[in-house]
Amino acid sequence: MSGTLEGFGLLFWVISFFYVAVAILFILGLKKMSSPVTASGGIKWAGLGMVLATLVTFLIPAQNPLIPGFGPFSTNTPVLFAGEKWLNLVLIIVAIAIGGGLAAYLGKVVKMTDMPQMVAVYNGMGGGAAALIAAVEFAGGNVHSTLVAILAVLGSLIGSVAFSGSVVAFMKLQGIMKKTFRLPAQNAWNIGLALVAVVLAVLIVVYIGEAWVTWLLILFFVLSLFLGVILTSPIGGADMPVVISLLNAFTGLAVGFEGYVLGNPALIIAGIVVGASGTLLTKLMAKAMNRPIKNVIFTPITGEAQGGEIEGSMKEIQAMDAAAAMRYAEKVIICPGYGMAVAGAQHKVWEMTKLLEEVGVEVKFAIHPVAGRMPGHMNVLLAEAGVPYDMIFDLDEINDEFPTADVALVIGANDTVNPVARTDKSSPIYGMPILDADKAQQCIVIKRGQGTGYSGVQNALFFADNTSMLYGSAQQVVADVIAALKTLV
Ligand code: TAP
Repeated sequence: MSGTLEGFGLLFWVISFFYVAVAILFILGLKKMSSPVTASGGIKWAGLGMVLATLVTFLIPAQNPLIPGFGPFSTNTPVLFAGEKWLNLVLIIVAIAIGGGLAAYLGKVVKMTDMPQMVAVYNGMGGGAAALIAAVEFAGGNVHSTLVAILAVLGSLIGSVAFSGSVVAFMKLQGIMKKTFRLPAQNAWNIGLALVAVVLAVLIVVYIGEAWVTWLLILFFVLSLFLGVILTSPIGGADMPVVISLLNAFTGLAVGFEGYVLGNPALIIAGIVVGASGTLLTKLMAKAMNRPIKNVIFTPITGEAQGGEIEGSMKEIQAMDAAAAMRYAEKVIICPGYGMAVAGAQHKVWEMTKLLEEVGVEVKFAIHPVAGRMPGHMNVLLAEAGVPYDMIFDLDEINDEFPTADVALVIGANDTVNPVARTDKSSPIYGMPILDADKAQQCIVIKRGQGTGYSGVQNALFFADNTSMLYGSAQQVVADVIAALKTLV
């Protein structure tokens, strides 16, 4: 390879050095994100890596030395500074300013509960960008080898599916698309379209260079986009987080492939990191919900309420009753959910916890892996309120402790504490592991009314003999409990 690098000299080594630094920043940043203690540092490291990768890209020579013999231009002047490419440079800077400015603004104003939509949008843009890179490379006649052609079509297919699938996911999460749509013989359509796309891809690779392949490419892109739409449209309810994570993994893969097409190591590494972590996250979430990934795609939960009738009635209590039950308890386990996030009740919850601890009550927090609307949603909120990490336990760590708890306090959680998942085979959430709040001596549920959870399934916990309902918006209700507790301590 050294022969092909002659003439690039110092510039090549400078670019390579910075790309290695970028790779290290991405990987260490991701590693730091695995713990809430170091996560904010991890975001900064990965962000720095991204800035560095963007800046270094401006120096890439026109004849790309990283993939011998491949490169769209014939000089060794940095691509963006060569001749009339100045206009491109201006356009790129304007695009970065608009995109960066918009992202900074959205990052500040988007509510924590709307994060999944934001992830879907960013994810879609990543997939779309990867597909567009391939389209530009094909249109410019820059795909010169079979390997590059294979990776370019694969990246286009996966990137297009990720783009249109993410748009559908965004519309569902934002409430723009309220229903799930299922075609007759949906699975046959999914498999049939995927097969046609593969056949088109093979034809494109074999006949690349022929004029008529341009039409094949257009058909291929349209079909891939349509495939993303029909794959995602039937999916709803509790499957949405798994789908978003799966699309995220797709985007990573597409970006990695297109990184090879462009001969850009930073893109390859970023794509592989996103693809691998997205795949692991998808597996973990699917496991947390006991939903094999093939079932998410081929036999999705529709999001419409189903399941058998539940007998019994809900018993209402007041803030003072709840305060007394917890004041005289030895052990209280708090199960937070989406409602705590909506109400922004985490600070009040921590204030209440401190009061209970002061009078000798042992308090623990139980976190379901898909509580809220994004992975780690509850951990982030509780950390923000100042709850120490050693009081927060994952489902596997704490479930055995519920029978020893005097009170399980459910705050705005529903699907994640629904015992129907254990007992009712006809329920769409059957098999999903849940927090065993119903096994505590007494269970107190804070919610506003009779509303169901995200999956639309009625909750048997609310009708159980040992469950009491404390109605109201979580922040106000917990404030009332705090006021009542203060009269008891
Ligand atoms: P959910 O099942 O969504 O239930 C939330 C409950 O909070 C509702 O029953 C609602 O009842 C109550 N609520 C809403 N606003 C409230 C407020 N201001 N004060 C008090 N309560 C309020 O919550 P969960 O147990 O956290 O489960 C999460 C669900 O979302 C799962 O089905 C999961 O699959 C899905 N999901 C998760 C993610 C990730 S990755 N975490 C992403 C997307 C979807 P009322 O209306 O009666 O108040």
